Amino acid sequence: MTTQLTTDQLTTALPDEGTPVACHESSDDDHGIPAPKRPEGSVPLNGYPDQTATTVFGDAGELGATTVERIPTEPQISTVFGDARELGVPVIELPESHVLNTRLQMSATELLEAIPKSAIPAVFFDPQYRGVLDQLSYGNEGQKRGRQRAALAQMQEEDITEIITAIDRVLIASGHLFLWMDKFHLCTGFTPWLNGTSLEVVDLVTWHKMRIGMGYRTRRCSEYLVVLQKTPRRAKGVWSVHNIPDVWQEQTERNGGHPHCKPLELQSELITAVTNPGDIVVDPAAGSFSVMEAAQQRGRNFLGCDLVV
Ligand SMILES: C[S@@+](CC[C@H](N)C(=O)[O-])C[C@H]1O[C@@H](n2cnc3c(N)ncnc32)[C@H](O)[C@@H]1O
Repeated sequence: MTTQLTTDQLTTALPDEGTPVACHESSDDDHGIPAPKRPEGSVPLNGYPDQTATTVFGDAGELGATTVERIPTEPQISTVFGDARELGVPVIELPESHVLNTRLQMSATELLEAIPKSAIPAVFFDPQYRGVLDQLSYGNEGQKRGRQRAALAQMQEEDITEIITAIDRVLIASGHLFLWMDKFHLCTGFTPWLNGTSLEVVDLVTWHKMRIGMGYRTRRCSEYLVVLQKTPRRAKGVWSVHNIPDVWQEQTERNGGHPHCKPLELQSELITAVTNPGDIVVDPAAGSFSVMEAAQQRGRNFLGCDLVV
């Protein structure tokens, strides 16, 4: 038996934020993971790379297998959300201590408290989780690479909550917080940190570090970036780059640098997606200041600090 489905029938709409973005054709120039090339004549299903169309439940059987034959029409590859950003930011005044594009030495709360309310389109926050040291206590705390990690000021849960509340205050409506997270916090729950804020989870990116780490069971080679948006939650007119895969492969430099340095290219792409040239991107616990480099690479301003610079 053969059933014919049109491309429309093969496409489903997301209930809350409209039609999903169609897949860009893959290119070797794409950052991250190039999408697999589609075989000729096949049609992408729901914007994703080609999926096997024949028999879900096996090939053999008395009743015969059902084959879904795709009609080989050209897929629509334009993005439904468009590339234009409609979100502007107010002109703000900062105190003299808050010099842009500089490695400022101060605490996260000191930095954030002096920024006017509803002023910033994008913030990156990479907490110095005490929990990671506890979970990964391989007996090397304070030794070799572990020494660098253990020497950094650790943040307790209440510090993280306080900083996230302060970030919520400085974000413009529909602005983004990119919150770095390890798998333990991702699995055990981080949403209590959002209590009392207008932040909602809108996406998740897995960073494949392309370097194998430690682990009592599986060995770690990933970290997670939770994408939060201040209400009102929307992508159209706000998020302007539509080819960022949600699993991102990038290796960071080691060379005795900061033990928690985050991927430059991923952060650059995200900054491009949610800000306009000249906008200010904030990182209140900047470590190696990878976000400053990313912002400057994309013609944005940076405001950030660390207790240690
Ligand atoms: C996980 S690292 C950030 C790494 C950074 N994302 C990068 O790409 O290099 C967290 C940083 O927070 C800093 N830190 C800890 N407590 C802080 C506080 N209260 N205010 C500002 N920075 C703080 C630590 O010194 C550490 O460098």
